[in-house]
Amino acid sequence: MIGQLRVPCAYQGGKQRVAAQIVDLLLEANPGPNTRFYDLCCGSAAVSIELVKRGIESSRICMLDISSWGVFWTAICSGTFDMDVFDQFLSELPGDKRELKAHMLELAALPIGEHEAELYPVLQACSFGGKQIWRNGNRWANACFRDFWQPTATSIRRSPANPMQPSSIELRRRVGILAQHMRGAACLNMDIMAILSNPIPNDSVVYVDPPYQDTTGYAFGFDVNAFIRKFREVSEAPLFVSEGAPLNSDAVLLNFGGAKGGISGIRKGKHQEWINRF
Ligand SMILES: C[S@@+](CC[C@H](N)C(=O)[O-])C[C@H]1O[C@@H](n2cnc3c(N)ncnc32)[C@H](O)[C@@H]1O
Repeated sequence: MIGQLRVPCAYQGGKQRVAAQIVDLLLEANPGPNTRFYDLCCGSAAVSIELVKRGIESSRICMLDISSWGVFWTAICSGTFDMDVFDQFLSELPGDKRELKAHMLELAALPIGEHEAELYPVLQACSFGGKQIWRNGNRWANACFRDFWQPTATSIRRSPANPMQPSSIELRRRVGILAQHMRGAACLNMDIMAILSNPIPNDSVVYVDPPYQDTTGYAFGFDVNAFIRKFREVSEAPLFVSEGAPLNSDAVLLNFGGAKGGISGIRKGKHQEWINRF
């Protein structure tokens, strides 16, 4: 079952394709049996999920995200996620994929009630291009959804484009497994700078995945260099920061080829994933 753990859905900047390589580095930095791992700006939690798949007890993981992901993971990790409410949202999705976009637009236009944690993964799974949907007061913002698209005789793409990825059945399956295995992790729904007021033991390993410098479309941000400086004032724990470019001479370019493990090679193409060690 643990091998089937997967992020709930695709997410802009999500690290599922490189999580194995990142986790290799985190584990190598402190393989001790009591090391605590921090996954700051966790989003869909690709890195925390990979840690659990490698056998790290969830109680040794601390996640943090200021967005609705933080609300979702807090509920999942504390066991307060209401699966009945989640099932209700899923059961109300129209069976006809052509009607899904209109349904999601209606849902996203309603004031956010008390079930942000349960509704958010449904919205995010339907988000156009995996872009971040976020909470602004009592309303959803940036809620753009995909149309169902089917190939015509002349289209190059031959398979239909689904308005929800994964499907509602698969989303339910993933969230059910996550609720079992991620329970016990700590999750903080707050600004990353605030964690610096808490003690971060020196035998921890800290990973930060901020919105990349030239990336748009996220609601939240922070000054990564200021974070690194202040972090060093309060903790000696190894710090790893993801970015689309090297930030120091100790940076490692991750391999996007999909191979598990091995860090090597120059990826042809524009997008690069670097992990910077401090
Ligand atoms: C690149 S994404 C992280 C992706 C994540 N590693 C994954 O695998 O899905 C960046 C995340 O940083 C979060 N974020 C941005 N500014 C933040 C802040 N000031 N404090 C906490 N989280 C923040 C965003 O909500 C977003 O989820």
